[in-house]
Amino acid sequence: MARSQKPLPKIARRKSNIAGWGVFAAEDISKNTRIIDYAGELIHNSVSEEREERYLAEGCIWVFRVNRNWSRDANVGGNIARFINHSCTPNCWFEVVDKTIWIRAGRNIRRGEELTYDYSIIGDRTMPCRCRPGCPNMI
Ligand SMILES: C[S@@+](CC[C@H](N)C(=O)[O-])C[C@H]1O[C@@H](n2cnc3c(N)ncnc32)[C@H](O)[C@@H]1O
Ligand SMILES: [Zn+2]
Repeated sequence: MARSQKPLPKIARRKSNIAGWGVFAAEDISKNTRIIDYAGELIHNSVSEEREERYLAEGCIWVFRVNRNWSRDANVGGNIARFINHSCTPNCWFEVVDKTIWIRAGRNIRRGEELTYDYSIIGDRTMPCRCRPGCPNMI
């Protein structure tokens, strides 16, 4: 029998105080809820580095490492998840299930809060973080 699935929570893209566009909760979201999958072209890691470098030269991180072999390039076939910004004190985390990257709530999130997760554990640290005034970290 097919498992009934709850619809994913409503989220919206808006201007962010952290950087450019961000993604915000459009309703209250409970801890651990799956919010959205980080969509993008599945590419082999043998080609991901070249793309990452090209995108970074334009100032943006779009490539998300899935595992030892695969990455997702949100610049190709990405969804709203690609606008989620980094924070050193994030309210979301991600979980890789097979080759799907789920963004999940790390705590109860109130409508209107910006969604963030920690980028720093998925790649090389390359730019100063602006998650809060005076943040000393690099992402
Ligand atoms: C996946 S995009 C997120 C969406 C981005 N804000 C936009 O408008 O396209 C990642 C890029 O956003 C910016 N960014 C995200 N979080 C940041 C942070 N905490 N501090 C500084 N820049 C950040 C960086 O330019 C990074 O390369
Ligand atoms: Zn920070």
